[in-house]
Amino acid sequence: MTATAQRLEFTTSLSADLVAEQRRGEILAKPGFGQWFTDHMLTATWTPDAGWHDAGVRAYAPLSLDPATAVLHYAQAIFEGMKAYRHAAGSIWTFRPEVNGARFARSARRMALPELPVEAFVEAVDLLVRTDADWVPSASDDGEGSLYLRPFMFASEVFLGVRPAKQVTFCVIASPAGAYFASGVEPVSIWLSSEYTRAAPGGTGAAKCAGNYAASLIAQQEALEHRCDQVCFLDAVERRWVEELGGMNLYFVYADGSVVTPELTGTILEGVTRASILELASDMGNKVDERRVSIDEWREGVASGDITEVFACGTAAVITPLGRLAWDGGELSMGEEPGPVTTSLRQALLDIQYGRADDAHGWLHRVV
Ligand code: COI
Repeated sequence: MTATAQRLEFTTSLSADLVAEQRRGEILAKPGFGQWFTDHMLTATWTPDAGWHDAGVRAYAPLSLDPATAVLHYAQAIFEGMKAYRHAAGSIWTFRPEVNGARFARSARRMALPELPVEAFVEAVDLLVRTDADWVPSASDDGEGSLYLRPFMFASEVFLGVRPAKQVTFCVIASPAGAYFASGVEPVSIWLSSEYTRAAPGGTGAAKCAGNYAASLIAQQEALEHRCDQVCFLDAVERRWVEELGGMNLYFVYADGSVVTPELTGTILEGVTRASILELASDMGNKVDERRVSIDEWREGVASGDITEVFACGTAAVITPLGRLAWDGGELSMGEEPGPVTTSLRQALLDIQYGRADDAHGWLHRVV
């Protein structure tokens, strides 16, 4: 049976040990990022014979793994990042969940994991959000509060041979979230990595797989040592083309109002926020372009005033302005305040996500 042909049934077994309402309120008032988790999680199992099965919501709890579980050794694992937003009238929505579902399936294919049908992915996420709806912050709780959703899949077979696992676990967990960077929308600083690259042609750069993030950490550590918030990677072949940050895509704003992001070359993650900004910027009358941007163009463009703003984007960080770029031997400033294009794109995106603006593209998906 192929995994993709299957209709998945979900069960719900509610937790007998819910977090007390008062404690939940305290967490939602100041959630931070990725620190607190809701009362439930969703899990499903895949085996070659049974396909996807045993799918359902249950109490949030640690997973018990045999030390020989394949993912602990060979990192056959993928994930997604999404958010659920509460609108002023109380309804709850996700943003383009089918795009995350399709990317999850592409990541699975690249990592030789079974593809979960997009409908099952969306249904799984909806079910967990509905079950833990009380955990979705109201827009007023933290200004930009949301419920961050983390679907992931990993090789759960107990086996040390190097081959695609014959038992795989799909899981969705949820975590109330405020701003990803403690500084909020203050411009962040970027360290340009000259020693490390993120992905090479033919590698896993376009997949949202755990290993890409593991491989970025030493460079991220180097960034912190140089008093920078994030690392920026160049391409692995010429070490010349700007690719992306450790977990976010990049955008450049030019003096003529055009908005440019590095084109997808197979080594860059196809961000959902990245794709949405291309459309939003175009709606706002900006010329948009996906093309290669060299590190020289970045440095010289900022110095000459041709590049007026640079920002990073992703589900967790939304749109975050970049204020400083540093490298071995120099640095340049891109301004201490968020620029006007960055600010209006950020506002336009958040207004759609929080139901304050018309959802002209039909990006929102109602859950509750
Ligand atoms: C996201 O923006 O959701 C990401 O996946 C980036 C990071 C938190 C891993």
